[in-house]
Amino acid sequence: MSQDDGQVHGQANDRPRAAFTNMETSTQADWAIIGSEFVRFAQGLPDRVLKHLALLDGDYGGFPVDRLTHSLQTATLAHKDGRDEEYVVCALLHDIGDTLGSYNHPDIAAAILKPFVSDENHWMVEKHGVFQGYYFFHHIGLNRDMRDAYRTHPWFARTAEFCAKYDGFAFDPNAETKPLSFFEPMVHKVLSRPKRSIYAAAMNR
Ligand SMILES: [Fe+2]
Ligand SMILES: [Fe+2]
Repeated sequence: MSQDDGQVHGQANDRPRAAFTNMETSTQADWAIIGSEFVRFAQGLPDRVLKHLALLDGDYGGFPVDRLTHSLQTATLAHKDGRDEEYVVCALLHDIGDTLGSYNHPDIAAAILKPFVSDENHWMVEKHGVFQGYYFFHHIGLNRDMRDAYRTHPWFARTAEFCAKYDGFAFDPNAETKPLSFFEPMVHKVLSRPKRSIYAAAMNR
């Protein structure tokens, strides 16, 4: 991971800047500057995401393993099971929203991944919280069958499988857990190729 994102990816104070004070008066020349700075900044996304994921280190929240270990173990299980890199990256990042989205953490991961992954992988990450609830909601006074609201959805089985085989099993302090460095190349690869974005047409000009 780069240690100098601010310099490398366009946040340094000596970088070129647009001249407008009101966006309505911005010009094509302004946006040429902003566009080239955006490319630099966007290239730093994988490193920013990895740094944010690392914030989960040491955060147990009462669980048997900390949230980073849980994330790494989920990804390790998916990788060992032969899942492709996009799926493994989804597994690695599925709980990255725990720090900023304490009441809706799956939405954060889903939003970060949305430009880069398939519809089914996006849906799986977005809904994993409800599906994981099958294993514990009844212990905290909730309906463990909350996921049944999606029973007829085409990606119900995919998401139930993610929880049954990977997310739900990734709480073992003694299980194999590959380090974050193992997954970094996959994160860089997957988060460098946006498949969908409202800015895509402008980026490809
Ligand atoms: Fe989760
Ligand atoms: Fe999880």
